[in-house]
Amino acid sequence: MSVNGVAFTTSDMYVQHPVWTAVDAYTISNLHPPSRPNSATLIHALKNSRDQGLPDIASYPVIGKFFALQCRALRVKHALELGTLGGYTSIWLASENPGLHVTTIEVNPHHRNVAQQNLEHAGVADRVDSRLGAGLDVLPRLGKEIAAGEKPRLGFAYIDADKNNNWNYLDQLIDMCEPGAVIFVDNIVAGGGLVDEAQLGDVMVSGAREVVEKVGKDGRVEGMVLQTVGEKSYDGILMVVVN
Ligand SMILES: C[S@@+](CC[C@H](N)C(=O)[O-])C[C@H]1O[C@@H](n2cnc3c(N)ncnc32)[C@H](O)[C@@H]1O
Repeated sequence: MSVNGVAFTTSDMYVQHPVWTAVDAYTISNLHPPSRPNSATLIHALKNSRDQGLPDIASYPVIGKFFALQCRALRVKHALELGTLGGYTSIWLASENPGLHVTTIEVNPHHRNVAQQNLEHAGVADRVDSRLGAGLDVLPRLGKEIAAGEKPRLGFAYIDADKNNNWNYLDQLIDMCEPGAVIFVDNIVAGGGLVDEAQLGDVMVSGAREVVEKVGKDGRVEGMVLQTVGEKSYDGILMVVVN
């Protein structure tokens, strides 16, 4: 890795650290123990997804609960997730917030089918509108429904799909949000790849840099990046608040 011409070793930066996993395990066992009503269905969603061949790239429990608590604190009525996978984060959002409706978008039919099974098993399918299609096709239709008053404006959104479209999604979502809404974009730091000169051509890095740089110049929003470590290694999320 090279930053401003200075070489760094990536060995300590991107490799999983057992202490990060141990800290997550300790905090979750205290703050979200297996006795919570949604714990079993969340574990079931991950197992069913794995059994049906979905990749192991769901957000991890700390992030899922963090997003669910954001929705609760902001009293969000309508949340959006771009990139459903097996529905893990949507289950966190809906099961922690009984009054919340979620719209979630997924391009892969198999992922979407498995997500639907998991949402039904979790008892939240009636509040999660799971839409099949590419984000760039589905979002404009949802935008029209919101503009027509058929759906409430968004109070929360999570962008976690094809990273080259991070900015295209955010740009559209801002106008579908209510003032004060929060939007998170995942995989922004990518083990420090965000600032690695050798990785500027990588699609995840270029998508992350584009959205960071454009948010900084966009008067509709304020943003900041939070670096994270945890059971899924060193990464970070961009948090954007709609003015
Ligand atoms: C990292 S996974 C999402 C994980 C999920 N947000 C969670 O927390 O469990 C990314 C998902 O985005 C989907 N995806 C990729 N490109 C997409 C697109 N253009 N439109 C919608 N979904 C897309 C992939 O099929 C995959 O299921």
